[in-house]
This record gives sequence, C-alpha cells and structure tokens, in this order.
Amino acid sequence: MKIDEQLFEKALYAYQNAYTPYSHFNVGAVLLMKDGTIITGSNIENASYGLSNCAERSALFSAYSQGYRKDDIERMMVIGNSRGPISPCGACRQVMSELIPLDVEVVLTNLKKDLKIMKVKDLLPYSFTDGDLHGKGI
Ligand code: THU
Repeated sequence: MKIDEQLFEKALYAYQNAYTPYSHFNVGAVLLMKDGTIITGSNIENASYGLSNCAERSALFSAYSQGYRKDDIERMMVIGNSRGPISPCGACRQVMSELIPLDVEVVLTNLKKDLKIMKVKDLLPYSFTDGDLHGKGI
C-alpha cells in the first residue's frame, strides 16, 4: 500500500517539532479528522524523565482539547526514526483504546516510509475500560 503523502508530511513536521533533549528519539503523530482537519502531536520530554509525554497522547489530548471526540477521528499516523514501522508504547495503546474508535486504522511508519497498518483494537486486546470500573468487564 502507498502512504498518504499529505499525512506523512504533517507527521514529519510533528516529528521535527519533538522536544527530546534526553532520548534524542523524535516521534510525530497526526490525527486526520472526518472534517479534514489534521491535528499534530510530538513527544515532549522533561528532565524528570517520567513526566515526558508521547507523540500519540500529545495529538489525542490536543484533539480532545479542541472539542473533538472519538467519532470525529478518521485515521491516525505515527512516525519515528525506528528500523521498522514504529511501535506505540503500552501506555499510548491504552489511551488510544479509549479515545479512538476500536475499528479506526493506525498507520505506523518511519523515515523510510515502511508501513504497518493496525486497528486500535488489535494494538491492545483486552484493554482496561470504563466497564471494568463498574464491574462490567469481560
Ligand atoms: N515515544 C513516543 O512518543 N511514542 C512512541 O510510540 C514510542 C516512544 C517517545 C517517548 C520518549 O520521549 C522517546 O520516544 C523515547 O522513548
């Protein structure tokens, strides 16, 4: 499959805007909304390492902060300087499973445009949900 060039360019822009003085590992994420808007997110690190925020969560929190909700999301793309397509961390998979519909595709890529496309539900099977909080888990 060929990569969506417009989305890739935006993801690369977010990648370039990452603040990574500690890991030097930049990540960019973009959300394509159903209204055509593209929302970017970058990983933002901190000298107190554990406070760093991943690109995926930056993009999602930005979208929600602008008033968008899960059903407004068409697709997500994530890029990092990884050998193969980047693999989102576990924490981001959990957040994605709540804030993006489970059937939405996440396009994982790298600077060479290697591609792996996965649905949110396949990135994190058996995620913790609000149902678990109310005794309605599987
Ligand atoms: N990182 C992301 O932003 N997204 C991922 O999918 C993997 C990891 C960030 C966290 C940290 O700033 C740096 O990459 C190295 O782990």
